[in-house]
Amino acid sequence: MQNTTGQPTTAEAPLRLAQSFSARFASTPRIFRAPGRVNLIGEHTDYNDGFVLPAAIDLYTWTATSLRNDGRLCVYSENLGESSEIDLAQEAPAPRDDWSDYVHGVALMLQRSGIPVPGCDLAIFSDVPSGAGLSSSAALEVSVASALLALSGLSLPLSELAKLCQRAENEFVGARVGIMDQFASCFGSAHHAILLDCRSLEYKLLPLPAGITMVICNTMVKHGHSGGEYNDRRAQCEEGVRLLSRYFPSIKALRDVSAVELESHRGDLPDLIYRRCHHVVSENERVLSAVAALKSGNLKEVGRCMAESHLSMRDDYEISCRELDLMVELAQGREGLVGSRMTGGGFGGCTINLVRTASVVQFTTEMRAAYHQSTGISPEIYVSTAGAGVTEVTPHG
Ligand code: GLA
Repeated sequence: MQNTTGQPTTAEAPLRLAQSFSARFASTPRIFRAPGRVNLIGEHTDYNDGFVLPAAIDLYTWTATSLRNDGRLCVYSENLGESSEIDLAQEAPAPRDDWSDYVHGVALMLQRSGIPVPGCDLAIFSDVPSGAGLSSSAALEVSVASALLALSGLSLPLSELAKLCQRAENEFVGARVGIMDQFASCFGSAHHAILLDCRSLEYKLLPLPAGITMVICNTMVKHGHSGGEYNDRRAQCEEGVRLLSRYFPSIKALRDVSAVELESHRGDLPDLIYRRCHHVVSENERVLSAVAALKSGNLKEVGRCMAESHLSMRDDYEISCRELDLMVELAQGREGLVGSRMTGGGFGGCTINLVRTASVVQFTTEMRAAYHQSTGISPEIYVSTAGAGVTEVTPHG
């Protein structure tokens, strides 16, 4: 990943982090790297036990760490230039409402699953933009959890690690997120998207079509997740399940409701709850249609599913915003575009665009200019390949 911000590039980051760690803590660290993710389709379906299709991207959070002997975590954020201390023996720790909650939450969940977390120095650097819908939170959780786990000398299956990180965010940070982001950060695979069944956690790796590139356009409008809107959507889905289970007693989640069943009881649901359910039920169908289309090389159908997904989030789920809608509109009809939609939790952040590789340079140049002309904002655009999940790295990568 290239950048023009004066930050280290992906290749330089671990060495720079190791050097700064050694200068600060006077020891040689181990380094763990976890990626952000982009979701191709399947938004807000994960906590409804549905299907998602994310891919890990080549933007990462690195955690450098070594042992200390006083039962404390001393954490330094390279991005913010801030330190934070956590006492691992504290009985009932409270969140501080800042970035250190992700570190603390993960340490706490490791302890609660019986892993004795040792005192550690940690330094963290990330090039996943925060609040952009690219899972900076999950990348931080997974990177720190892997580092703490390794220093404890124990190991966990990756799917347990993903679930533990989700619990840290649900129970300590206070955002009722689903499993998609942590799973993608753990299970990412080069050149593949991940079709995940969020109920069983069974997954299949799906090769991205040759000659297609993921172009992620950041509106630069930031969202926040522990904020109410995300949790509200989740509660509205639960209300939908509660109301629909009067007619379909066996349903446990919106995953279990078909489009026909939902329509047959449209009149029994408040309009808002109906529209929330309609998004989720139709989005699950679109994930499966998009996967079939990707497998058979029907890129036109992939584009149609992405376009419908965006409209569903705009109109039914109401999680888009003016800038996201504009970014999707500006992509329409451009040379090489396969499909475009907002990606991630919503209320700001990025669009995912699948673009024919030969047209990527023209596409990004034109999108940058068009968005700037309409809004006065210079968007960041990330051209990413699908990458690997969490791993330990050396300072040289
Ligand atoms: C956020 C959450 C995920 C998922 C998406 C929406 O990224 O962390 O669990 O719900 O929003 O698809």
